[in-house]
Amino acid sequence: MQKFVIQGGRRLEGDIAVQGAKNSALPILAAALLCEGESILENCPKLSDVYAACRILGSVGCRCKMEGHTVVIGGCPVYPQIPETLMQEMRSSIIFLGAMLGRLGSCTLGFPGGCELGPRPIDLHLSALRRMGVRIREENGILFCDTPHGLHGARIHLQFPSVGATENILLAAVLAKGETILTNAAREPEILDLAGYLLKCGANIEGAGSSTIRVQGVKQLDGCTYRIMPDRIVTATWLAAAAITGGELRLLQTDAASLVGILDVLEEMNGKCSHTPDSICFSAVRPLRAVRYLKTMPYPGFPTDAQAIVMAVLCQASGTSVIEETIFENRFRHVDALCRMGADIQVAGRVAVVHGVRRLQGAQVSATDLRGGAALLVAGLGAEGETAITEISHIDRGYDSPEQVLRSVGAAIERI
Ligand code: EPZ
Repeated sequence: MQKFVIQGGRRLEGDIAVQGAKNSALPILAAALLCEGESILENCPKLSDVYAACRILGSVGCRCKMEGHTVVIGGCPVYPQIPETLMQEMRSSIIFLGAMLGRLGSCTLGFPGGCELGPRPIDLHLSALRRMGVRIREENGILFCDTPHGLHGARIHLQFPSVGATENILLAAVLAKGETILTNAAREPEILDLAGYLLKCGANIEGAGSSTIRVQGVKQLDGCTYRIMPDRIVTATWLAAAAITGGELRLLQTDAASLVGILDVLEEMNGKCSHTPDSICFSAVRPLRAVRYLKTMPYPGFPTDAQAIVMAVLCQASGTSVIEETIFENRFRHVDALCRMGADIQVAGRVAVVHGVRRLQGAQVSATDLRGGAALLVAGLGAEGETAITEISHIDRGYDSPEQVLRSVGAAIERI
């Protein structure tokens, strides 16, 4: 089992080119299934979740080859089922359902991989697809889906602006017969990126990135070359690393506009931010200030994926911060490990109260999930002494060579 070993307290300084967005690459890899001909996806991060998505594409009969940060997808899906082992590998594999139904009209797949963030229901996905003519039968964890009268557009209102459900509906709608109108759609930038790819392939979509999306089904989509957007949560992670070490970083190839809800929180903590459309300069002078109240919300609110990462910084801020996690019911799993490092955090249900301490202490900790693991990286960089983080496969799901990136700006970190 690999682990990260960090000697904390080093001030981070320098430039980082931010990786492509995992949560954009995954739905776009699924969307490539819908297209005739070849798609070339650039700026694709080298992550275990991306490799899993490529294996799923291969298992249904497509060609999928990753060279460096470019993925080439071709061929046509022929097998209307996804092996349960591949579905178990990651939660977001449910995104292939909409694409398979759009292209083949039927699909058999296991329930998506369990996830550490609490039960990950897919009820919103399935009820929307049923409205589009999909017949779904569930038998001990396997979903048998087909479209006896073809896939057709529908009026769909989401009870909750689910990112995955919005993406699945888009993927099913672009080749369906007629018009789909989706209201209370998720507005995350990754939705806009997925729509950008589909539009370039010939889809007819209006309103992506807003709460109401209209899709007119077309006959065929053709592959294209597309550059994946920068990862806004990885950007937030490096900003948090600069904040907790009192450092100064310049983040390049990023998208400052997608950092709404994050930059203002870092400024509230006394960070100094300046940005151009594709770069962010950030510096912090310690001690950082606590944030009175922070609530995770759907975009453009403060993103749930940045909650653990910002909590790690608040552990060393002066004052008391209150964090409410409204999106997932079990997203405080990193708190125990932070407390082992000397943090003073009380959790009650979906609220965590963080009393800042002068300095965290290095310890042996283990990652519990992707962003919780990233939070331990950030905490270890700011702590006194040595921190060893195990179960780092969680971190490798979303971060492309994090130890190399952090070493390049002065961190003392090793992967053992
Ligand atoms: C996406 O997950 C992201 N994953 C998550 O990032 C992110 O935290 C989340 O959106 C929210 O922004 C990918 O894009 C691959 P949701 P997703 O559907 O689509 C409930 C990371 O760290 N819900 O918006 O699964 C659900 O239980 C990952 O990169 C239903 O009840 O998120 C959750 O409480 C973690 N029924 C809430 O909605 C449904 O049918 C948000 O889920 C679907 C969702």
